[in-house]
Amino acid sequence: MDSVKRLAAPADPDDGVFRFRQAISRFSTGVAVITTRTVDGPAGMTASAVASLSMDPLQLLVCIGSNLPTCKAITEAGSFAVNVLGEDHEHLARHFATRRKDKFSGVELRPDSDVPVLADAIAHFVCSVADTLPGGDHTIVVGDVLTCDHVPGTNPLVYFASAFGTLHDPAAAGGWHFASAM
Ligand SMILES: Cc1cc2nc3c(=O)[nH]c(=O)nc-3n(C[C@H](O)[C@H](O)[C@H](O)COP(=O)(O)O)c2cc1C
Repeated sequence: MDSVKRLAAPADPDDGVFRFRQAISRFSTGVAVITTRTVDGPAGMTASAVASLSMDPLQLLVCIGSNLPTCKAITEAGSFAVNVLGEDHEHLARHFATRRKDKFSGVELRPDSDVPVLADAIAHFVCSVADTLPGGDHTIVVGDVLTCDHVPGTNPLVYFASAFGTLHDPAAAGGWHFASAM
C-alpha cells in the first residue's frame, strides 16, 4: 500500500479481541458501502466483510453488526446494494463508518436504481435478501445478485492493518498475475 492512515484500535495486547483484530486485520480487503432504502430515505454503512458466495445462483454475502441500524434497515427493506469504493474514496469510507443522520447529504446516487447506488462506486451489486444467518454478534446477509456492473480501469481502496491505502501501480511492478493462469 502506498500510504497508511491508521484508525484508532484498543491497545491491550493481552486482550483476545485485540489480538484477533490485529491478526484478522492482516487479511487485506477492499472497502464497500452497503446501502439500502428505508421509509425515511437511504441508509448505509462502510463494510469490509463482503465476499462472493455462489455462481449458481449468483450470490454474495455481507456480515453486519446485528445491533447496527443498517442491519435492521436491510432486513426490513429486503434489498441492498454493495458499492465498491475506489482509491480516491477514503472520505466516503470514513463518512459511512460514522453514525449520523445526514449520511447521504451531498452524496450522489445513480438515478437508475430503486436501491441507492453510489454514483462514484467502481463496482456495484444490487441484491435482494436471500437469507439472514446468525454469526455471533453479526448477521450474515446473503444476497441474490439482481444486477451488477463495474467501471473498467479503476483501482480500489484497500483496507489493511486498520489503515486505508491504495495499490501500487501494477505496471511498475511488472503487471498482475491472473489467478486463472495458476
Ligand atoms: C474500513 C471499515 C470496514 C468496516 N466493516 C464493517 C463490516 O464489515 N461490518 C460491520 O458490521 N461494520 C463494519 N464497519 C463498521 C461500520 O461501518 C460502523 O459501525 C457504522 O457506524 C455502521 O453504520 P450505522 O451505525 O449507521 O448502521 C467497518 C468500518 C470501517 C471503517
